[in-house]
Amino acid sequence: MIPEIEKLLNEQIKFEAKASAQYLSMASWADIRGYNGVADFFYTQSEEERVHMIKLVKFINERSGTAVIPSIEKPRDDFKSLMELFETFLTSEEFVTAKINNVIYECLQHKDYNVHNFMQWYVAEQLEEEAVARTLLDKLKIIGNDKSGHYLFDRDINTFQENK
Ligand code: FEO
Repeated sequence: MIPEIEKLLNEQIKFEAKASAQYLSMASWADIRGYNGVADFFYTQSEEERVHMIKLVKFINERSGTAVIPSIEKPRDDFKSLMELFETFLTSEEFVTAKINNVIYECLQHKDYNVHNFMQWYVAEQLEEEAVARTLLDKLKIIGNDKSGHYLFDRDINTFQENK
């Protein structure tokens, strides 16, 4: 495996691990406040990010590289509102997308078409996740501070996840 690409893939393991931890923290935040639908949504998102991470670990190791399991700092848990929770979700996904795009750029620079091909799965995944995050944020903007709107949002949120 090309050392520069191996380094970038290992960094990507950390970004996916951070996203998984962040979404677990967000699930817990929602769970405590009675938003059970939102909690389920983020518990599932957290699991998905863990899957993204493990896929990278296995890919690196299968290609004679060495996957490094990173330590990660404590995720945020100080959200003021559902809106801030979902803004954080979108920001996190946009960050991961930018990092994936960078891996792909470097793959092309190094003519590593094998890893480039592998990363296409992540590109498609990011498109879906960003779209879901934007849709949910749009709904929250419509709802504003309406408590019954928040109740319905929490009740219906997982229909969006299932439609992914
Ligand atoms: Fe795997 Fe949504 O970043």
